[in-house]
Amino acid sequence: MSRLAVRLAGLELRNPLLSASGTFGHGLEMQHIVPSSAVGGLVSKTVTRKPRPGNPLPRIKETEAGFLNSIGLENRGVDAYVRDVLPAMHGADTIVVTNLGGEKVEDFVELARRLDGQAAIDAFEVNLSCPNVQEGKLPFATDPSMAARVIREVRAATTKPIFAKLSPNVSRIADLAIAVESAGADGITAVNTVLGMQVDWRTRRPGLFTNQGGYSGTAIKPIALRCAWECARSVKIPVIGCGGVMCAEDALEFLVVGCRAVQVGTASFGDPGLLGRMAQEMDALLDQAGVASVTELVGTLRPWDPPPPRAERSATASTSTSTSTCSASVHPAARGAQP
Ligand SMILES: Cc1cc2nc3c(=O)[nH]c(=O)nc-3n(C[C@H](O)[C@H](O)[C@H](O)COP(=O)(O)O)c2cc1C
Repeated sequence: MSRLAVRLAGLELRNPLLSASGTFGHGLEMQHIVPSSAVGGLVSKTVTRKPRPGNPLPRIKETEAGFLNSIGLENRGVDAYVRDVLPAMHGADTIVVTNLGGEKVEDFVELARRLDGQAAIDAFEVNLSCPNVQEGKLPFATDPSMAARVIREVRAATTKPIFAKLSPNVSRIADLAIAVESAGADGITAVNTVLGMQVDWRTRRPGLFTNQGGYSGTAIKPIALRCAWECARSVKIPVIGCGGVMCAEDALEFLVVGCRAVQVGTASFGDPGLLGRMAQEMDALLDQAGVASVTELVGTLRPWDPPPPRAERSATASTSTSTSTCSASVHPAARGAQP
């Protein structure tokens, strides 16, 4: 097994890097820029039972750091996915994960049943957490018993591995992680977008037609890291980190907090070739740090020791600074403002 390879719910990934749903087409559209053989896995855009036109425009906005979107799960529905997309996915030289979306429990179940026999699909990611449908109410993502019900019923409908994609828009994400694990999820993707809003004070118009939307990109990394860490220490199933990953350094941070793999989303809009280069960059970083394999890093967070009794404390205590050399840690939108 190569030093970048990871095992995820019985699947062998050549490296821990996957595309994030909705940011990379279904995966193979990008093949001329990022060959599928360069990534650990491709996650499809959310597929729903019926075609969805998505939300009215405007539905995507750049912000000072990252994107705000309310695409609303636009897709051509499962029939078109089976007919037009899946035949090509047989040729993908990587793990294929199909992301399932629905508004009712039955929608998820029906999709899992329908797609269970499709050999091109290696696993399902159950999108419990889209903030851009049902006015951001997130019924499956905020209520552990609802989330568990979806996963339990999808579990009964398929033998493929299931990853439950959670929302950061909850006060105790660990409760959701525990609920989906007990309901039979094989892994957790943490996280989807953070609810956000933009407004033009001159026109008084919200940036998005739906007023609120999902915030993603570099600014949400600390939120996503915290959520992924809370999930990883609360469950035994693997966690796939997602949110604000802009470079290989960021991905390694998610591994340290306990993730077994990492997804890259918004960063691919600014740099479509990024995912194709990240594995090599990760390899070089491991060399520099003298780390033998990525799995050696997983869950190795070293919390600070408790401070010594007051009298012994050194007066030289310093404030911590980030050591990240990630050149993409400033979103292209923000960098664009520079000469
Ligand atoms: C334009 C856009 C479309 C997205 N569409 C989906 C989607 O269809 N299904 C889904 O589960 N997540 C979707 N997401 C969320 C991403 O998969 C990811 O969870 C989120 O953007 C955080 O990661 P990032 O900061 O790396 O982008 C979308 C995100 C963006 C920016």
